Amino acid sequence: MNICKTISEFRQYRHSAAGKVIFVPTMGALHEGHGSLVRMARRLAGPDGIVAASIFVNPTQFGPHEDFHKYPRHIEQDLANLTAWDADVVFCPSAEEIYPPGHVTSIDPGELGTVLEGAIRPGHFRGVCTVVAKLLGIVEPAAMILGQKDFQQQLILKHMVRDLNMPVEIITAPTLREPDGLAMSSRNRYLTPDQRARAGSIYQALSWATHQYKSGERDAAALEAGMSERITQSGLEAQYALACHAETLEVYHQTVGNPCVFLIAAKLGTTRLIDNVVHS
Ligand code: PAF
Repeated sequence: MNICKTISEFRQYRHSAAGKVIFVPTMGALHEGHGSLVRMARRLAGPDGIVAASIFVNPTQFGPHEDFHKYPRHIEQDLANLTAWDADVVFCPSAEEIYPPGHVTSIDPGELGTVLEGAIRPGHFRGVCTVVAKLLGIVEPAAMILGQKDFQQQLILKHMVRDLNMPVEIITAPTLREPDGLAMSSRNRYLTPDQRARAGSIYQALSWATHQYKSGERDAAALEAGMSERITQSGLEAQYALACHAETLEVYHQTVGNPCVFLIAAKLGTTRLIDNVVHS
């Protein structure tokens, strides 16, 4: 696997290699969830295409009191995993390479960036959009694969590439789960054994809502209260547990319509976890 630390190294590699590029952007601390994205990229690229990943813990998407400094960094293990998953190239730049002195431009994701995660993490999606736009300009992929766990992120980035006429397809890949249903996430490693044992309640709440929805329940308040209750009973702090329109993220206040996404954000101690299920 080729390892490129600078933009010029990556561009040199990119322009010397033939074949379409399928791109998986990451912040490292890779787990089997990322593995499923890279394997999907390999299938889509085929034997002649290029599977590119990036590892960059993007400072601009973390708030001042968030976990940027303690975010897990395991570059050697990450490189070994990407090699095992058959990636061809990884771009792992420094912060100065991406944000050199004098960098002033950023991308405003609009209204969609101010709700749900954006309301709790102001500026988060501006940082995500800005770094992903820069990565797309460097990597120039035909397609980029994102995980469904970050549902709002993939929706905002789909809007961004459409609105800015970026020639890339965005593919949303299903969430990989632990045996108790907990969505795989780099932040799961912050959990103590006791917290980990209780974290499965997020997916249990989503599964309960799914069952209710499939049985015909459309009362937004009942579904939201039922999800919150299930999380709270397990000792988690529910930040939101909502039924939203799956394309606009507008909250269904009375009757839950179609398409629908159930979205949960919950805290276990200082660790925030998010998850969702979509019905269309
Ligand atoms: O989902 C992530 O890991 C990050 O938000 C991304 C897309 C790599 C941008 O930093």
